[in-house]
Amino acid sequence: MEMVHVLDHPLLQHKLSILRDETTGVKDFREIVCEIATLMCYDATRNLPLQAVEVQTPVAKAVTYQLAGKKLAIVPVLRAGLGMVEGILTLIPSAKVGHIGLFRDPDTLEPVKYYCKMPTDIADRDVIILDPMLATGGSASAAISFVKEYGVKNIKLMNILAAPEGIARVRKDHPDVEIYVAAVDDQLNDHGYIVPGLGDAGDRIFGTK
Ligand code: PRP
Ligand code: URA
Repeated sequence: MEMVHVLDHPLLQHKLSILRDETTGVKDFREIVCEIATLMCYDATRNLPLQAVEVQTPVAKAVTYQLAGKKLAIVPVLRAGLGMVEGILTLIPSAKVGHIGLFRDPDTLEPVKYYCKMPTDIADRDVIILDPMLATGGSASAAISFVKEYGVKNIKLMNILAAPEGIARVRKDHPDVEIYVAAVDDQLNDHGYIVPGLGDAGDRIFGTK
């Protein structure tokens, strides 16, 4: 099974190019992060199980398919992952939402956990972890480990932009996790920023630069 999905749809690439532009302001940046999450959600949920149901159309009876009721949860990594939440809930309004607070220590680049709150039935749910940026992969790997500690079996990771280093780290630490990204950039710079990237996603979503 393919474990890394690069969703290079033209609409995603167009919107991503606006995110990358340093002149894009906070309002547009925030809206586009949300729109990209919705578009990526379409692909990341492609394998949701269906069940056959019979409905009466105005013309005849039809056997048709609805979602089999598999329970989902999304887990944004604070802060920047918050920007993707509404975009996912647009398509899956009944998903529950857990939160993990992590920030990257600017010197060591290691993730520091400061918050965690999960739905009580998270172990029964499939989980999509949300974070716009996959740089060294330290934050994503730690977030996946935290979610696994709750007994979750099926985890997907959704990032808008990834560095090859981040993908390699998550593949190594969590080979069972499928990764969905809109683009893979060239490399990381000495400060752990994705190059060319889009800058600091959290600062650009919340206007805190
Ligand atoms: C950013 C980003 C990821 C992390 C990626 O968060 O949203 O969580 O860095 O870097 P990594 O792959 O090297 O771990 P940041 O630590 O800047 O926190 P913020 O979302 O609160 O701005
Ligand atoms: N976090 C960001 O927000 N941007 C990067 O380029 C790397 C980590």
